[in-house]
Amino acid sequence: MRRPLFIAEQARNARGMLGRFIAFVMARETLSENLRAIDALDVQPRDHILDVGCGHGRSLEILAARASKGHVAGADTSELMVEIAVARNRALVKARKVDVAIAPADALPFPDGSFDKALCVHVIYFWEGLDAPFREIARVLKPGARFALVFRTDADKTTVASFPKEVYRFRPRSEVTAALMRAGFAVQVAERDAEPVLAIATKQNAAAVVS
Ligand SMILES: C[S@@+](CC[C@H](N)C(=O)[O-])C[C@H]1O[C@@H](n2cnc3c(N)ncnc32)[C@H](O)[C@@H]1O
Repeated sequence: MRRPLFIAEQARNARGMLGRFIAFVMARETLSENLRAIDALDVQPRDHILDVGCGHGRSLEILAARASKGHVAGADTSELMVEIAVARNRALVKARKVDVAIAPADALPFPDGSFDKALCVHVIYFWEGLDAPFREIARVLKPGARFALVFRTDADKTTVASFPKEVYRFRPRSEVTAALMRAGFAVQVAERDAEPVLAIATKQNAAAVVS
């Protein structure tokens, strides 16, 4: 069944009481895909990690437990999602182990080379283009840093039909991996036929990037 437009709008930009409910449901629905991305990052205790489009912030607490001597940051465009993520991680935020910023993926409020790892789960559908966000994520990563990206492609026709196209853009896998490479990542795609796709991208040294 096709998801109603007003629900899809909440996934893109959660607001109000309905937004709180959507955040609650989403935290459960996306947990396994977030764990898949987090496992692929092979988090080390001193890692600095960024979750782009962190939503409700459930991954932030999991990452903070694994990077016990490091730091975790989240960024999301929804003020409500950031409020929920901060409330969920209140003690970690107070201890300065976790920070959550209201910011879009293409204008992240972090200096160059801030992070060892990054993830982005079910967010790229809401971006008009891929180049600016991927370049911005590459900017804030250290050379050699790993980026785990989880997304559904247009190959999954059932999913494409279930989500309103006014809100969700499902792209071919090749379009996403090409954009990652243009942004300076070497890309490895796990489980070739699996949906959602998990792409593991490694930031190359500037000299290795072919434009
Ligand atoms: C479907 S939710 C996924 C949240 C979380 N990553 C998860 O796996 O449960 C998409 C999230 O991306 C955020 N978002 C949408 N557009 C964004 C953008 N341009 N930059 C950063 N976050 C964005 C939304 O506010 C929402 O929290």
